[in-house]
Amino acid sequence: MWGAKICQNLSELQNQGASLEEILSKAVDYLHKSNPRFHWTGIYELFPDNVLRLGPFIGAPTDHVFIAVGKGVCGTAVAEKRNINVPDVSKVSNYLACSTSTKSELVVLIRRGEHIFAQIDIDSHEYDAFDPNTVKQVEQLADWLAGAYLRLSQSLRAASNLNQ
Ligand code: SME
Repeated sequence: MWGAKICQNLSELQNQGASLEEILSKAVDYLHKSNPRFHWTGIYELFPDNVLRLGPFIGAPTDHVFIAVGKGVCGTAVAEKRNINVPDVSKVSNYLACSTSTKSELVVLIRRGEHIFAQIDIDSHEYDAFDPNTVKQVEQLADWLAGAYLRLSQSLRAASNLNQ
C-alpha cells in the first residue's frame, strides 16, 4: 500500500473516530509494510520543550527516545525546518546511530507552514534507499498527518471554549 492509499485508509479510520495516537500508530504500520527497504520506521513528536520524543515505531529498539532540536539528523531537520534525505549515514558527522546496520535515513517533517508537529523517520540497511518518488509518497503521508494534528488541535480548542 502506498501514498494515496495509506491516506485513504487513515481517513476511514479517522471517520470511525480513531484517536491521533491510533492514527499515528497505523500510519507507521502501513508505511513500514509499504517498502521492503524500510527497516526502521517511526514517528518522533515535537514537544514544547524543543525535544523530540519517540512515538510509535517498528524495528529494533533505539536508545534515542528523546532527541533535542539541533542534535542528530532528526533534530537538525527541525532546527533547519527541512526534510533530510541521507544516502550514506557514515558521511554525517552528527548522526545518532540507532543500529549499526543502518546505511541511509530519511526524515520528513509533519508540519503546516512554520509549525512543526512531528516527523517521520525511516532507516534502511541499504545505501541511498529513498528515491524521489519514495520521498514524495512519504511527504504526502506527512502532509495528511499534519492535517490530522490540525483537526485534533482545533477540536481540543473548541472543547476548551465550550468548557469556559
Ligand atoms: N539517526 C537518527 C536518530 C534516530 S534513530 O535512527 C531511530 C538521528 O541521527 O537523529
